[in-house]
Amino acid sequence: ARQDRLRGKRAIVTAGGTQEPIDPVRYLTNRSSGRMGYAVAEALQEAGAETILVSAPTALSPPPGVETIQVSTALKMREAVLDRYAEADIVVMAAAVADYRPAEEAGQKIKKTGANWQLELVPNPDILAELARNKEKRILVGFAAETENLISFAREKIQRKNLDMLVANDVTLPGAGFGSPTNIVSFLFPDGRREDLPQMNKLEVARRLVQEIEALLGLETKE
Ligand code: C5P
Repeated sequence: ARQDRLRGKRAIVTAGGTQEPIDPVRYLTNRSSGRMGYAVAEALQEAGAETILVSAPTALSPPPGVETIQVSTALKMREAVLDRYAEADIVVMAAAVADYRPAEEAGQKIKKTGANWQLELVPNPDILAELARNKEKRILVGFAAETENLISFAREKIQRKNLDMLVANDVTLPGAGFGSPTNIVSFLFPDGRREDLPQMNKLEVARRLVQEIEALLGLETKE
């Protein structure tokens, strides 16, 4: 049955857009709603995996039965994921991790002066690339949200980050991407295989993703 196939497996899913503080009242973030990642956590749990959701701030309630750890910044997300990585069999990084963070967080609210303000940003660590360097037998799945050259950027990413699978979506399409209840994605694999899915709701996409993970683990996927 669907709910038994991942019994005994442990999964980590990340979701949401990280928030990178500028000062006590301001932060940098992105348009991620967390919906796709929450749906993946729900689908993994449904398939029997012991699932931990590491979530950046979202407006969503954690799926029932999923242990949820709330984090804000990329650095905190990295820590929460690395702390649990040794026991994980499956990691799905659906979070929109900020590529950059302010070089420092001001202790007090920064006051306006009327002059231009240059905010210095430093690169955040790439969590998924770091996980992949110590991958062993784990299944690692990445997400790629792009606004152009979707497939070629995705192909490059799957190789560079040493992933088992990448879920690519063009966030400019109607019915796909940020905040939408539906998504239009392609699954890409390191051997060049690619599957373009029609528009479906995010939980259906997540269930298809879980089927692919089962196949990658060599598990029986028929109902
Ligand atoms: O390079 P890009 O950000 O598009 O890669 C997307 C994938 O890498 C996603 O799965 C995302 O969660 C992950 N990522 C990460 N750490 C970063 C940036 C992205 O784990 N700093």
